[in-house]
Amino acid sequence: MQPPLKLYLEQLHTRIQALNSGKVATYIPALAEANPAHFGICIVTADGYRYAVGDCEQSFTVQSISKPLTYAMALADRGREAVVAKVGVEPSGEAFNSISLHPTRGTPLNPMINAGAIAITGLVAGATPAAQWQRIQDGLALFAGRPLTLNEKVYRSESETGYRNRAISWLLRNAGVIEGEPEPVLENYFRQCSVEVTCIDLAVMAATLANGGTNPLTGLRAARADVVESVLSVMSTCGMYNYAGEWLFEVGIPAKSGVSGGIMAVLPGKFGIAVYSPPLDERGNCLRGIAVCETLTRDFGLHLFASNRTAALVVNRMVRGIDLPSGRQRPPEAEALLQQRADAVRVLMLQGDLSFDGAEYISRLIAREDSARYFVLDLQGLSWIAPVAARSLHQIRLQLRAVGRQLVFARLRQRPELIAALKAGLMAGEPGYLSFEDNRLAVEWCENQLLAEELPGSQGAAAAPATLADFRLLAGLNANELAALGRLAEPTQYAAEERVF
Ligand code: DON
Repeated sequence: MQPPLKLYLEQLHTRIQALNSGKVATYIPALAEANPAHFGICIVTADGYRYAVGDCEQSFTVQSISKPLTYAMALADRGREAVVAKVGVEPSGEAFNSISLHPTRGTPLNPMINAGAIAITGLVAGATPAAQWQRIQDGLALFAGRPLTLNEKVYRSESETGYRNRAISWLLRNAGVIEGEPEPVLENYFRQCSVEVTCIDLAVMAATLANGGTNPLTGLRAARADVVESVLSVMSTCGMYNYAGEWLFEVGIPAKSGVSGGIMAVLPGKFGIAVYSPPLDERGNCLRGIAVCETLTRDFGLHLFASNRTAALVVNRMVRGIDLPSGRQRPPEAEALLQQRADAVRVLMLQGDLSFDGAEYISRLIAREDSARYFVLDLQGLSWIAPVAARSLHQIRLQLRAVGRQLVFARLRQRPELIAALKAGLMAGEPGYLSFEDNRLAVEWCENQLLAEELPGSQGAAAAPATLADFRLLAGLNANELAALGRLAEPTQYAAEERVF
């Protein structure tokens, strides 16, 4: 089957290929050699599935698209406070090579303009400029999921003609933002801009950001989730320079462009988008890339501030315990009670990521079920629990317990990350929570509790059926047949938890 998104991207590619305005960057001589006809679009989902159309394997230099990635490295290496003290997070509304420095402190306004990016290059970990360059190369490789190489020719060309960047680096030295020699920092900045990538690489880098910092193809972490949050914030307000405000307004996806004609856009939790097409508009952004992103946003409603209501999606299904019976055979009076109290046990099958809003939805759902006394949360379909959501589940559990109702968990086997989140969310002094291997065992526990409370002394909870006639399986047999079977049958007892094959 041809996925609909692939067909859509092919048609989009054909339509936008016809846009022939824009100019290839020439201020770095080596960039002027790019072929203006090259055009690729690639989307990589946050779980690593790839859609690529056009010239997605054509190499080009990453240029400014490296800026958010080295920013992630500096945040990880130096910590947020130290980085923010040197480079601000305020949009400049100016061109990439503007000399936008704080009027009194002399610090760059943000890490996406050259002044900020050069300062950031000087902040990544490494005792020497060579070690810092190694750190940058390794960091970029983690984002791309493969080792990347330097385009020497573009690097030389940048270094030989980058007078303005050289001036900026000396201003940074003057303000104490760069503390040592500015030249080696500047050379590393030129190198990082001259790393070769393909449109696929950019989409994987974007998908890594969309996936909270873990590369979905290699499974390796390129950045911490809190660092990614900071990077995407700055990308959304400053990533497109003097077009940033309009970009957020029209397209609404954090993005970063580069003068070689690349653009990467990140839809958090969903996917990364990359476009490669060398002709730029008058503000230095990839012309076809902008058109692709604008169209995608419009057609698919991708704007970050679109009100997608997803809280309810976390509950896949809610069933009554009676529809998921424990399978245990019980005496008739116990069976009768369970039938009569069919609403007493509820099983909620959860799925996806459980965040604050999902937990809030679950609490409302539970509050609405007045006739239920026991709730089983089946967690097998959950991929993630936010710390705040784990705490909310425990709060719901404790509130229920205070009024004689119970909430238990099921199907956490081999889910260490979910178990860790639930344990971390326990209230101070609480020893733990109840959890069962599967839903039937959980329902059985709930049924036993219910029977113990509502049929006290009847042994309803624990006892097996007293006679053969009480077994549901034998319901069709007459008295003679039951007697005959009784003569053949041999009663055997097993201790609780004993394994029987
Ligand atoms: O600083 C420069 O001139 C380039 N090496 C990087 C510039 C860049 O990609 C600007 N982005 N649109």
